Amino acid sequence: MEQRGRFPTNKCISRRQEVVVRSMNGRHAHHRSWARSRRTVQRGVIGLVARSSASERIPVAVLGATGSVGQRFVQLLEGHPWFQVVALGASSRSAGRKYAEQVAWKQATPIPTEMAGIEIAECDPSHPAYRDVRIVFSGLDNQIAGEIETSFAQTGKAVFSNAKNHRMDPDVPILIPPVNAAHIEAVRGQSVYQQRGGFIVTNANCSTTAMAIGLAPVWKSADLGIETIVVSTMQAISGAGYPGLSGMDILDNVIPYIGAEEGKMETESLKILGEYQPSRGFVPAEINVSAMCNRVHVLDGHTEAVSLKVRNRGNRSKEQVAQMVIEAIQEYPSISRGVFGLPSGPERDVVFNQAPDRPQPRLDRNLGGGFTVTVGRVRPCNVLDVKLALCGHNTIVGAAGGSILNAELAVVKGLVSSAGIPTVEASTAARR
Ligand SMILES: NC(=O)c1ccc[n+]([C@@H]2O[C@H](COP(=O)([O-])OP(=O)(O)OC[C@H]3O[C@@H](n4cnc5c(N)ncnc54)[C@H](OP(=O)(O)O)[C@@H]3O)[C@@H](O)[C@H]2O)c1
Repeated sequence: MEQRGRFPTNKCISRRQEVVVRSMNGRHAHHRSWARSRRTVQRGVIGLVARSSASERIPVAVLGATGSVGQRFVQLLEGHPWFQVVALGASSRSAGRKYAEQVAWKQATPIPTEMAGIEIAECDPSHPAYRDVRIVFSGLDNQIAGEIETSFAQTGKAVFSNAKNHRMDPDVPILIPPVNAAHIEAVRGQSVYQQRGGFIVTNANCSTTAMAIGLAPVWKSADLGIETIVVSTMQAISGAGYPGLSGMDILDNVIPYIGAEEGKMETESLKILGEYQPSRGFVPAEINVSAMCNRVHVLDGHTEAVSLKVRNRGNRSKEQVAQMVIEAIQEYPSISRGVFGLPSGPERDVVFNQAPDRPQPRLDRNLGGGFTVTVGRVRPCNVLDVKLALCGHNTIVGAAGGSILNAELAVVKGLVSSAGIPTVEASTAARR
């Protein structure tokens, strides 16, 4: 299912401006009803009446806007209730031309009219296009992302990056709200935040994100925990950017090599599942991870086959452990939307599908608008304890969508000043 009409138009926002979170009711992809959403609002932290209008939306920029991840940002930010795209950045090859004229648009919905006429700027924070921008979404190529993102943070902007460059910096979180929302506190320790109010938050490599969300219920379960993960990925073509692999390479084929991907899965996952302690920084999780990464002939959606050794098996049978894994997933709370009230958050961050042949990327990647990870085929493993399959959308939850969730969390946590959008602190106080 595609993303058209995820949020109400500006006109709708001004008509429905009483509760900002209500605006997510417009997400057709989630089939939400007003009544269901209101119940969620009452349960969640966003219980405050807030006024949101188009003029109050936070001005944001997308860097790398012509690329695969950048286009997904542009698509997902259309009509966003909190964010308004006012600037689009790319290389000097693209700068100076209107977005719709320059971009090789590959999404299945039209270029949003509110962004089609924006003139692409070079990725230089001193360019006037970025003057009012408070949030910068980066879909920049790894080759140049690091320095450019730093330069934007140094001018007081909140930067949400998809690139690998800053992921392992000691004060930069690899943030995935349904997994490690508390890691966002690391931002307060960044010297650039203390001096200028800017900061950098990264999201994980796309295959790591799907794995972390899919396994979070097991990892966080006091009765299970994880000691060892062995994962083989089947990664979509869009993960290689555009134009990516040639048809001659990928048609009728599987490529058992994705440069540096296995190392990223093995290291990033430990930081993500570890703890953040203000006095010690990031303390990595004690898990053994072995990853094997493969490119397959699928357009979008990474599928992963995982075997796990749990930490606290005791004298339970493997069948019992498998059943406990299923229950942990089924009972995992709705965090992005339920706990934090993030407008892009899905109804459920992770679901279990009991059909014997699921998940499949073509059928499951767009669940929850592409923000939900599906787990299936949970069963005993003859070598470790249990094995399962999981699937997540690589350019939505695994890239642009994940960054948008991160920015929404930063707003809720009061790290980005916002007009009319309640912070967690304000909302909690209002409920007392
Ligand atoms: N694709 C995924 O599923 C995925 C998932 C997670 C993370 N990521 C990461 O996200 C980032 C973007 O990936 P992608 O797949 O979207 O790549 P892509 O399709 O190749 O797009 C790269 C973007 O960077 C811009 N760019 C290149 N050189 C530049 C320069 N010197 N100055 C300014 N802009 C420049 C390009 O602009 P021009 O068009 O003007 O050249 C384009 O907009 C990468 O770091 C990647 O590792 C990707």
